[in-house]
Amino acid sequence: MEKTFVMIKPDGVQRGLIGEIVARFETKGYKLAGAKLMNISNTLASVHYGEHEGKPFYPGLVKFITSGPVFAMVWEGENVIAGARQMMGKTNPQEALPSTIRGDFGLSVGKNLIHGSDSPESAVREIGLFFNDSELVDYQKVNEKWLY
Ligand code: TYD
Ligand code: MG
Repeated sequence: MEKTFVMIKPDGVQRGLIGEIVARFETKGYKLAGAKLMNISNTLASVHYGEHEGKPFYPGLVKFITSGPVFAMVWEGENVIAGARQMMGKTNPQEALPSTIRGDFGLSVGKNLIHGSDSPESAVREIGLFFNDSELVDYQKVNEKWLY
């Protein structure tokens, strides 16, 4: 089954939105495969956001993502990579539709609450950056037969 990397950024943690955001993924039907509260080092930030190096917003992005704890997660389910991106909404919360996480809770692109992998390749890369195999849990949920 497909897996994706999702991370509640420091603003979401500080604003007490971990529970609200996790609840949305749970009620959608996705299965949590791993989760942890952690600080991001400068090295991890620059590898994770390597594709944005050199862009004007990059220094601010690294500073922000290392400014406080994040809640890192792996979610599993059919088409979860695209599904998570849809639930997050557009990068700029001003453009994100209501009922999306950024649309409901965000105001500015710099503090847009949540990260989600944008492709199967980034999902594999980002899960590997943030989680060891031993931190990911493989299990059955009773509701799976009602989802697929
Ligand atoms: P990006 O990968 O384009 O967006 P997404 O998070 O939706 O995949 O950009 C990574 C993060 O960089 C984004 O979540 C917020 C920040 N950012 C800015 O601060 N300013 C910008 O103009 C852009 C494009 C991104
Ligand atoms: Mg991105």
